[in-house]
Amino acid sequence: MRVLLTGGAGYIGSHTALVLLEAGYDVTVLDDFSNSSAESVARIEALTDRSVQTIACNLGDLREAAQALQVIDFEAAIHLAGFKAVGESVKNPSAYYRNNIVSTLNLLDILRAKNVRELVFSSSATVYGVPQTERIDESHPTGQGLTNPYGRSKAMIEQIIRDVHASWPDFKAVLLRYFNPVGAHESGRIGESPSGVPNNLMPYVAQVAAGQRESVKVFGDAYATPDGTGVRDYIHVMDLADGHLAALQHLEPGVATYNLGSGIGYSVLDVIGAYAEASGKDVPYVITEPRAGDVSRVIADPSRANQMLGWSAKRSLDDACRDSWRWQKQNPEGLQGRYTVAE
Ligand code: WQD
Repeated sequence: MRVLLTGGAGYIGSHTALVLLEAGYDVTVLDDFSNSSAESVARIEALTDRSVQTIACNLGDLREAAQALQVIDFEAAIHLAGFKAVGESVKNPSAYYRNNIVSTLNLLDILRAKNVRELVFSSSATVYGVPQTERIDESHPTGQGLTNPYGRSKAMIEQIIRDVHASWPDFKAVLLRYFNPVGAHESGRIGESPSGVPNNLMPYVAQVAAGQRESVKVFGDAYATPDGTGVRDYIHVMDLADGHLAALQHLEPGVATYNLGSGIGYSVLDVIGAYAEASGKDVPYVITEPRAGDVSRVIADPSRANQMLGWSAKRSLDDACRDSWRWQKQNPEGLQGRYTVAE
C-alpha cells in the first residue's frame, strides 16, 4: 500500500515516513523543500534500506500538484505540509492562511478526483485556544480564544475536512492534534532542523547546550504552575510518528479526532534540567518577560487515542532529551547549515 506524505521531508514527516517504511508501506514524499531538506529523504532511505519516491512540488499550486500526482497511485494521504511558526503567523497572516488552507483545498480536490478516500491530517493542540480544563480531551471547545493565524488556520482546515466528508460519505479522515513534538530518531540521523532562531523550546535549549547560543530565555516565571514557568505536554517525535501509523490503520468513514500527547506536563525549567542531565552540559538561562499569546499549561488527555487507536506515548522526556542531544551533536548545523546565530 502506497501512502502520500505531504511535507514528508520535514521534522514530523521524516520520522513518520521512516515508521511507515519500517511497517512495510511504500511512501511518496511530496515537499517544496521550503522548510526542509532532500537530505532527510536520503537519510531515511539509508536508515530503512528502502527507496522513497520524492516529488518536489508546491501543493499551493493546484495545476502543478495535480499534474505531479496524476501518475502516482496511492491509497492514503498524510497531510503534514504547512507553515507552523506561531509568531511568524501573527506577522504574516495572509501567507499562513494562503499556504495552509489553499494547499489543503488543493490536496482534497486531488484526492476526490483520484477517489483516494483516506486522509490523516496534522492538526495541533493550538486549536483548543486557552485551556479551560487541567487536561484537554477532544471534547474541549476549539476555535475560541485562539491567539494566532496559525492556530486559526488549523481550526479552519479541520472544519473544511468535516465539510468535505459531508459531501463525500465514503471519505475517511483522522485529525491528529499534536501537543509539543520533541526529540529525534535514536540514530541521530534525522531530527528537527529549524531555520534561523528556533521558535520552540527544545531546539533552542539544544543550541545552548551545544554552545551555539548563550542562554535560554525563559518566557516568564509567574504562571500558576509549580515553578512558575510554562507547562507543556512534550511528546517524542517517534511516538508521534507511531500515532500516524495507528491512525492509518484505524481509518473509518467519517472524521475522527485524536489528541497525540503523553498526558504528562513538564515546565520550562524541568526541560532545561532534563536536557542538562542528558547532555552533561550546562544550560544557562535567564528569566524574561512572558511571550505574547502564551498560556500557563497545555496538557493532553490522550485516553481516546489510547482506547480507540491502541496507541500511547512510550518514550519519556529524558529519552527525548537524549535523542535530541545525539542529533544536535551529530548535526550541529542541522541539515545543510540551516542554523544562524542572528538573534
Ligand atoms: C514551550 C514552552 C514557552 C521557547 C507551539 C505551537 C504549537 C506547536 C508547538 C506547531 C512555553 C517556553 C519557549 C523559548 C521559553 N507548533 N519557551 N523560551 O508555544 O507550547 O507550542 O509549538 O505545531 O502549535 O503553539 O511551544 O516550544 O514555543 O514553548 O521559555 O525560547 O517553552 O513559553 O511555555 P508552544 P514552544
